[in-house]
Amino acid sequence: MSSPEAILQLAHGYWGSRALLAAVELGLFTELAEGPLDLGAVSERLSLHPRGARDFLDALVALGMLERADGLYSNTADTDLFLDRNKPSYVGGLLEMASQRLYRIWDALPEALRTGRRQSESNDEHDFFAALYADPARLESFLSAMTGLSHAAGAAIAAKFPFDRYESVLDVGCAQGAAPVALAKAHPHLTATGFDLPPVGPIFDRYVARHGLEDRVSFHGGDFFKDPLPSADVIVMGHILHDWGLDEKKQLIAKAYDALPPGGGFIAYEALIDDERRANAFGLLMSVTMLLETEAGFDFTGADARGWYEDAGFENVGVAHLNGPDSMVFGFKPA
Ligand SMILES: C[S@@+](CC[C@H](N)C(=O)[O-])C[C@H]1O[C@@H](n2cnc3c(N)ncnc32)[C@H](O)[C@@H]1O
Repeated sequence: MSSPEAILQLAHGYWGSRALLAAVELGLFTELAEGPLDLGAVSERLSLHPRGARDFLDALVALGMLERADGLYSNTADTDLFLDRNKPSYVGGLLEMASQRLYRIWDALPEALRTGRRQSESNDEHDFFAALYADPARLESFLSAMTGLSHAAGAAIAAKFPFDRYESVLDVGCAQGAAPVALAKAHPHLTATGFDLPPVGPIFDRYVARHGLEDRVSFHGGDFFKDPLPSADVIVMGHILHDWGLDEKKQLIAKAYDALPPGGGFIAYEALIDDERRANAFGLLMSVTMLLETEAGFDFTGADARGWYEDAGFENVGVAHLNGPDSMVFGFKPA
């Protein structure tokens, strides 16, 4: 029998999403990581008004984000590991950004769809990233949140690309360095370089030192549109191409081609949209996020990328799934 249930569940999905993002922004999971608390104690620590506090916390229990036993609230195993700001596994930096900024931008989706224009005010956008890059502690938390998500992609690339044929790798837009560290760990013969904007350097260096890889992993500061890329046998770009319009995408692919030696490999990894454009809802909605957030960015299919790679001169272009929504597109400069 037909039922509107699936439609209504999706339509109300933002209720649960907003409740979770608010909990992260308020620091609920970080407070509860110190130990279980009752309603009064949670309300006091987070300055919650009594009217909504109980429903808010019990809704998070119903959504599987909190536990409650004998009137005491506590984190689940997953929220404790991934949403406590004091743990290195924290992924809440991205969710804090979603709570404070992206959620509001998504509100303007109908306007973006009618005009084709991004909905983040350019000043607001500028202020957000200027503030991020000016505050080392916030920048580190943001970059480490990316690491929480991209470390697994680096490990999967290490397993699926023929690094035994190569000696050096360059990760362009490397953030904290999750991918170069994962690649260097998996392949002890490799040296790896991370390329990103200069303020990222000290944060990258600390992350590499924590992994004891200073002898093989180093940082190169620069702007990938203005500066030449350092040469390496393999060049990686993770979640970079989708930020930009077609001309910039092609410019970055051509820049990688020029920086590679004959036979060198190029890998871009993204939440690649399936070629039929009907299965990877995350990738498709990521592309809508690029409409909302960037001047001209969009996500793409493996078939789209294959065309751009081949136009740039790459051969033996292929696509491989990594994990979650991420896949890589690889190609080789003719030997
Ligand atoms: C979306 S993050 C991707 C980080 C990482 N590759 C990953 O997949 O998690 C984009 C990265 O590109 C860097 N970036 C942005 N514009 C840049 C530019 N013009 N030159 C160099 N790096 C840039 C940012 O600092 C950030 O670390």
